[in-house]
Amino acid sequence: MADQPETDAVTMDKIVSLARRRGFVFPSSEIYGGLGSSYDYGHYGVLAKNNVKARWLEAMTQERDDIVALDSAIILNTSVWEASGHLEGFTDPLVDCRTCKLRFRADHLEESQCGRKPSKHPGATEECDLTEPRQFNLMFETHLGPMHETAGNVYLRPETAQGIFVNFKNVLQLARRKPPFGIAQIGKSFRNEITPGNFLFRTREFEQMEMEYFVPPAEAEQWYRYWIEERLGWYTRYGIRHSRLRVREHEPDELSHYSRGTSDIEYLYPIGWSELEGIANRGDFDLSAHTAHSGTKLEFVDTQSGERYTPYVIEPAGGVDRALLAFLVDAYDEEEVAGRQRVLLRLHPRIAPVKAAVLPLIGKSEGMAVKARALYEELRRHEVVEYDDSGAIGRRYRRQDEIGTPFAFTIDEQTLEDDTITLRDRDSLAQERIPIEGASAYLDDALAKPWQTPKRD
Ligand code: GAP
Repeated sequence: MADQPETDAVTMDKIVSLARRRGFVFPSSEIYGGLGSSYDYGHYGVLAKNNVKARWLEAMTQERDDIVALDSAIILNTSVWEASGHLEGFTDPLVDCRTCKLRFRADHLEESQCGRKPSKHPGATEECDLTEPRQFNLMFETHLGPMHETAGNVYLRPETAQGIFVNFKNVLQLARRKPPFGIAQIGKSFRNEITPGNFLFRTREFEQMEMEYFVPPAEAEQWYRYWIEERLGWYTRYGIRHSRLRVREHEPDELSHYSRGTSDIEYLYPIGWSELEGIANRGDFDLSAHTAHSGTKLEFVDTQSGERYTPYVIEPAGGVDRALLAFLVDAYDEEEVAGRQRVLLRLHPRIAPVKAAVLPLIGKSEGMAVKARALYEELRRHEVVEYDDSGAIGRRYRRQDEIGTPFAFTIDEQTLEDDTITLRDRDSLAQERIPIEGASAYLDDALAKPWQTPKRD
């Protein structure tokens, strides 16, 4: 057992450094000097990110039967962005500093740093020479087709939601749904953010998990409250501490152009309380706008009662990268064990990239290696497991701790005598002996049952 209380000194630098050293996330295009706030995911990052997406899709489409999945194109007809209001209104106010030549969000000057030393907020000293704010559209523009001159201007989607709205009629008819029902989509979105930063928190290319839930207008408020609770519950179910989550309702002047009410689920990142996911009541804004612009009626007609109406939309919209960052921050822990520091990720087993490690105590022992490899081959048929026979056992454990592997099975001298192995628990460090043939069932069980976040607050 750990013989010291854990410290809770997680900083963004520690997360960036762990993510880098263990191959979760790399700065993008690094050999060319990188590309500001752009990241590539390495092996463990991909596995963990895929787990986040799989748990979300499971909760949306597998554990309930009122939501269907969709995967729409990233580049849509430009009329979509006209109708949605993004061409006109998806802007941030921007100011340039004529002195330091940097650009800032006019509404974030307090949190920005001037480019000159000693660094102050833009506008804080007389030397700052800021332009008047002007509106800057965050959508990335590109051209469709090979000829630049004749090609149509198109945009990389800044949210996945619009691909859902323009498919409303398809789903309504072909999936034979009636409100309340939802359409869920995960995919890349792009925003030319003026001030990206804080690692994965704000990037220009990111993944979203969005679900549009279509409801009778009179039920909108009730479903809005329902989805706030539901989404909070999803984060705590997968290990985020309740004390690090809070709901913040938007002030009227903060609301997006489409919103009748928005609440952010905020997480206590090392940068302070910040948005993890937004839940919005979009009213009938989107379906009405697309009906008006396309001429296609996007409404629900009840064939029995003859009633027709434009459903309201409740939208839980989260970021995959921002969620992964919250999972990493929340799981990060340091403690002293027998006089040595241990760094670990206390990730929920179903979010952890690797579920178990199989470790022959003495890598060079032929007998241990044979048994260990056989166990590894058996376990990897169902789960992502790792085999590691290199270096001292303590170092191998520490490596697995840092990538958040919840279980380790160690094959030793005794295994050769009685076919038992040591099972090591990442969080408690408890070790117990179990029969080697029970390892697979143990792992299945452990991954299926509810998991308790180790108490750390
Ligand atoms: N369809 C509504 C919508 O897009 P949003 O609050 O702008 O709402 C939803 O985005 C979520 O997408 C955010 O809560 C955040 O998790 C994620 N997100 C938005 N911009 C991001 C960025 N630049 N980098 C990383 N994640 C971002």
